[in-house]
Amino acid sequence: MSVQNKKDKYRIAVVAGDGIGPEVIEEARLTVEAAASLESASIEWIDYPFGAAHYLEKNEILPETALAEMGEADALLLGAIGSPQVKSGIPERGILLKIRFVFDQYINLRPAKSLPNVPTPVPLDGKTMDSVVIRENTEDLYMGLGGIYDGISDGSFETALDLERGGYSLRGKLSLSISPNMPFAVQAALNTSLGVERITRYACRTTIARGEGKLAIVTKSNAAPALYGFFEDTAKRVIETEYPSVKWETVNVDALCYHLVRDPLAYGVLLCPNLFGDIVSDLQAGLAGGMGAAAGANIGDGLSMFEPVHGSAPDIAGTGRANPIAAILSGALLLRHLGLEKSADAVEKAVRGYLSSSPGSEFPFEFGGGFSCREVGGAILKRI
Ligand code: NAD
Ligand code: IPM
Ligand code: MN
Repeated sequence: MSVQNKKDKYRIAVVAGDGIGPEVIEEARLTVEAAASLESASIEWIDYPFGAAHYLEKNEILPETALAEMGEADALLLGAIGSPQVKSGIPERGILLKIRFVFDQYINLRPAKSLPNVPTPVPLDGKTMDSVVIRENTEDLYMGLGGIYDGISDGSFETALDLERGGYSLRGKLSLSISPNMPFAVQAALNTSLGVERITRYACRTTIARGEGKLAIVTKSNAAPALYGFFEDTAKRVIETEYPSVKWETVNVDALCYHLVRDPLAYGVLLCPNLFGDIVSDLQAGLAGGMGAAAGANIGDGLSMFEPVHGSAPDIAGTGRANPIAAILSGALLLRHLGLEKSADAVEKAVRGYLSSSPGSEFPFEFGGGFSCREVGGAILKRI
């Protein structure tokens, strides 16, 4: 999880992926490269073709050899995985989640920050929204435990549990029988002390680094007291015993959504279990101005992956209407992770400079302007 020592040359793996992925990643690459050169660092990109399209064409998801090779890179930049032409979940789990789990990228960092002159759906009255979702990234409903019972056999269903996570392995079986006999689906969620403790520590360090005294634990312990009561209690224990200067509050995820649309400035650090973090980060992205500006990082002790919060946006893919700012700002998070602080600052400054000084007509489509993905990328690149 540590920031790397500075080098002259970095090897960055790239999975541009599907839909608008390749469009926005192209702009992110150009800006990352230009910014790194400010600190005399060069980038060698290692491209991988994986995604839904590659799966359709070659029937290949993500080979182990490629995973091993990726592990040798300094970081990974990813666009988006998924397509309406492939059954939902196959490439997403087989590539995106696989990478998160194999490299034990347990932190999903998703800042939600409003940008100059970018309209927000809830007026901010001239103030800046500056919140961050810290999402546990390896557990919860994402474990992949479960299956579908067809309703045809004798009413009993069994599935083997056999998985590896950073720091533990889980073996056993989930065994159920239903009466009267009918099809059902089951998907089990699991949070461990190891998983909750480490993400809580990161959330506490982030709270302190942001100069804030309090974080919010996002929960749903009223409906799922085992799963989320455990998350909440474990988080509270870590905060109280290890970070006594940090205060905590709990907020049920449903109420959080209500509070956020009434007042997007109501929260700073939001410590979330995996599923709620996924959902709340899209809400936050919308409140801060748009999906096309929401950057993200998947951080672990080994290879970390940088990717926008958004997906492949098949509704606008190929139209030039994709906003590359989320990918570009994810590139800034990547540079910061590599220890190239000045380069990261330069990218963020260029984005803000472009938005502060350009007429609305030169804004991305998403922000009401008429600039294409390429033109937005070019306008930002020019300022680096
Ligand atoms: P999405 O994020 O792709 O799109 C949601 C909405 O936001 C769409 O209207 C889209 O046009 C808009 N949008 C997203 N990015 C934008 C950008 N850069 N500029 C302008 N508008 C943008 O979510 P979805 O529609 O639920 O998912 C589409 C596919 O992407 C699915 O296959 C899904 O599984 C996958 N997905 C992948 C990732 C990932 O790889 N990290 C993340 C989310 C969804
Ligand atoms: C995200 C995405 C993924 C997630 C999907 C594509 C599996 O929505 O990165 O936010 O749920 O984590
Ligand atoms: Mn999501």
